Amino acid sequence: MTESVSEPVATSGPPRMPVTVDVNGVSVSRQVEPRSMLVDFLREDLGLTGTKVSCELQVCGVCTVLVDGRPVSSCTFLTADADGAAVTTVEGLSDGQTLHPLQESFVDNFALQCGFCTPGFLMMSKALLDGDEVPDREAIVEHLEGNICRCTGYEPIVEAVEHVAQELRGGAHG
Ligand code: FES
Ligand code: FES
Repeated sequence: MTESVSEPVATSGPPRMPVTVDVNGVSVSRQVEPRSMLVDFLREDLGLTGTKVSCELQVCGVCTVLVDGRPVSSCTFLTADADGAAVTTVEGLSDGQTLHPLQESFVDNFALQCGFCTPGFLMMSKALLDGDEVPDREAIVEHLEGNICRCTGYEPIVEAVEHVAQELRGGAHG
C-alpha cells in the first residue's frame, strides 16, 4: 500500500529545498537544507533510527541503505540526490512480524553481538543477494569488506549470508 506524508513549507530559517522520497514504500515529502545528508534525513526528520551513523566518512558501513536497490553510505549521500528515488532502510526489511531471511539467519548464526553494525551488514547483504547471481563465500567476503564489526570477528556474519545464499540456490544448509 502506498501512503503519502508531507509537511508544511517552512517560511523562516536556512534555505530549504523540497524533496520527495519513497522510503520503505511510503512517499515522503519534506523541505530539507541543501547540505542535508540522507542518514540525518532518515534518522532525524523521519525518526528511522535503525540506520546507524558513526564515522561519517564513508569508512565503516554502518549507515548503509539502498537507493533504488544500490547500497550507499547514507552519511555522505545528499538527501537531495535521493529526490524521486526509492530508499530502503533496515526498517523496510521485515514483512510485518515476519523477519527477512537475512535477519533470521543473522539470529540463527549468532552474527550479531552489540548489533550496532548489523543494519549496515544486512542492507549490504540484501543488495548482494538481490543481484543476478547467487554469491559464493568469496564474493560475500569481498562484498562485505567495507563494513566494520568490532564484536563478531566477521565469521558468523559471512556464514549467515552464506546460509541465505544456499537457500536461494536450493542447496542444503551447512
Ligand atoms: S557512518 Fe557512514 S560509513 Fe561510517
Ligand atoms: S556486533 Fe557489535 S560492532 Fe558488530
